[in-house]
Parts: sequence; C-alpha cells; structure tokens
Amino acid sequence: MLHARAFKVSVVWTLALLFLGSVVHATESSLACPDWPTCFGTMVPEMTGGVFWEHLHRLVAGGLVLMFGLATWLAKQETGTRPRIFRASLAGMGLLVVQSVFGGLTVIYRLPDMVSTTHLTLAFGFLALATVLAAATSRPDSALTPRAPAVGRSLRLYAGVAAGLVFGQSVVGALVRHTDGGMSCPDLPLCLGQVVPPLVNIQIISHFTHRVLAVVTTAAVLGVVWWAYRSDVPGRLRRWLVAAAALVVLQVGLGVASVLTILAVVPVSTHTLVAAMLLSVLVYVSTVAGESLERRPEAGRDLEAAGV
Ligand code: HEM
Ligand code: HEM
Repeated sequence: MLHARAFKVSVVWTLALLFLGSVVHATESSLACPDWPTCFGTMVPEMTGGVFWEHLHRLVAGGLVLMFGLATWLAKQETGTRPRIFRASLAGMGLLVVQSVFGGLTVIYRLPDMVSTTHLTLAFGFLALATVLAAATSRPDSALTPRAPAVGRSLRLYAGVAAGLVFGQSVVGALVRHTDGGMSCPDLPLCLGQVVPPLVNIQIISHFTHRVLAVVTTAAVLGVVWWAYRSDVPGRLRRWLVAAAALVVLQVGLGVASVLTILAVVPVSTHTLVAAMLLSVLVYVSTVAGESLERRPEAGRDLEAAGV
C-alpha cells in the first residue's frame, strides 16, 4: 500500500531534518536568516555561510510537509476500514504546522530558551507519531508476532517505557543545550569534581539531571534487550532491540565526546540524530508488539499457514 511507504519515507525524512536542525544550532546559523517565512525577503537567498544551513533546514521542512501531506491523503484513500490511521495522520499534519510556526518564532523572537526547547520536543513528538503510523500500516507479519499474547503485551509496555525515557532525556538534553549548559560540567565522569555538584543554576541542574537520566535510560534500554532474550520474542524483533542497545551505547559515547570536544559540531549534531533514531526504533518495536495483539486472529492464521 502506497500510504505505508509514504509514512516510512516520512520517518527517514524527519530524521534527516532533525539532524539538519541540530547542525543549524551547532554552526550558530540559527539567525542567519533574520526573517521568516522568507530569508532576506526571498525564498531563494544566496546559499552561503549560515544561510546555507538555516534555509536548507526550512526547505527540507517544507518538503516534509508535502511528503507527510501526501501520506495523509493516501491514507484517506486506502484505509477506509481504519479511520484512526487517517485521524492520527491529520494530527501529525497539525503538529507539523505548529512546529513550523515554532521554527519561525525561534527566529522572530531570537531564540528564547523555551521556544527552542519546545521546537525539539515537538520534533521528537512528530517523529514518534510518524513511526507509529509507519509501523501500524506495515503489512502484518507473523515473523514479528510474539506467540504468547502476554509476551506481546509486556514487550509493548517495556519498549514503550524505554521510549518514554529516551523522549524525556532528550527534552532535558535540549534544555541543557538551549540554556547554554553544555559545558557547565566540563569534567567526566564527575561534575565540577564532585559526584553531586552544587545545584546552583539551571545549567548545572539540567546538565547533572541529563547525566543521571542517561544512566537510567541506558539501563532501561539494555534491560529490555536482556528481557527479550530470556522471553519468547521473535528473532526479528530481538534484532531491532539489539540495534537499540547499540544506539544507546553509541549515544553515551557521543555525549561524552560532545563534552570532551567542547561541543564540536559533528558529535553534538550526531548526538541529536542518534537520540532520534533510538526513539524511533523503540517506538517501532512497541507499536509492532501492540499491533500484533490487535491483529492476533490474522496473525494466528499466518502462523498456522506457516506450519508453526
Ligand atoms: C519552516 C519551518 C521551520 C523553521 C523556520 C525552523 C527553524 C529552526 C531554527 C532557527 C533552528 C535553530 C534553533 C536554535 O538554535 O535554537 C531549528 C532547529 C531545529 N529544527 Fe527547525 N524549523 C522549522 C521546521 C522544523 C520541522 C518541521 C522540524 C521537525 C519536524 C524541525 C526540527 C528541528 C530540530 C530538531 C532542531 C534542533 C533543535 C535543537 O537543537 O534543540 N524544524 N529550526
Ligand atoms: C541515553 C542517553 C542520552 C540521550 C538519549 C541524550 C539525548 C540528548 C539530546 C536529544 C540532546 C539535545 C540535542 C539538541 O538539542 O539538538 C542532548 C544534549 C546534550 N547531551 Fe545528551 N543524551 C544522552 C546521554 C548523554 C551523556 C552520557 C552525555 C555526557 C555526559 C550527554 C551530554 C550532552 C550534552 C553536553 C548536551 C548539550 C549539547 C549542546 O549544548 O550542544 N548526553 N542529549
């Protein structure tokens, strides 16, 4: 079905857009276009310096609106029996419009911390929704269906909780970034030479919270993978979870590299991208586990047909 493909493309497109947004900030290009929605009064400015990154981010955002709009239209045509898919896509369109306005507000009000942090929060929220839609519209597949409904229910819950932690950790990360707290703990693994630093300002509080939550989030993701290997979770879902484990370890490495390189462009931008990929993988696993419960009669028949 075309709409399922269009949702998958939207997920990949969103990941690219998130990465570009992070590069915009890291290269200090956020105010390179002083106006919005035009850039220096035109839609085709000279693409040099910071304008290149900021305007490219806007163009790719425009492309995502068109792509996701197409997916929504196709969903309307092709999912007559599943109206909630269409309703969820409409909510996604609404989120994209709000997100674009927030992007504009970051420029017009010259990057207030809370507006920039909300811009990242909405971006991750949209990515999660697009991933749910991509997973829920993909073809039912018995190779992704846990045999026991109890295993499916637990997997949906555990992967969902891990995804929630990654989301919360990412919002705190954005707060670190936009309050300029990235170097408020310049040492590792201690912070200002102490296990618990003096929590005297928002920069140190958010940075310290981000490090503590990193331990909790990493343990949660690795815990889900450990559980999946002890339970009757299908091999293909286990492999997705192994990818999540690899991503969370990489993410911690990139966080450490961000501090050690004093927030160099490559580690900090990749740190945003890997957080988003991790969120997407966990949301995918949780959604597939949940969908397999809903589609159980069909899934059961698939298993029978396969002689399992
Ligand atoms: C035309 C609409 C948009 C404009 C004008 C815009 C503008 C901006 C600007 C100026 C920044 C840098 C913010 C800063 O330094 O604080 C930024 C970052 C970002 N943008 Fe957009 N944006 C738009 C649409 C979008 C959309 C649709 C998404 C995703 C769905 C998105 C995701 C991001 C992300 C993830 C960042 C990085 C935020 C961070 O580092 O915390 N943007 N955007
Ligand atoms: C599960 C683990 C982690 C996740 C999901 C995560 C996620 C994030 C996200 C999404 C951001 C905001 C990026 C943006 O606004 O574009 C961020 C910022 C940041 N993270 Fe992490 N992070 C994790 C672990 C760590 C660790 C272990 C460290 C280092 C000790 C770290 C250091 C930082 C720093 C310094 C920033 C601010 C970067 C800047 O100012 O440009 N993170 N994190």
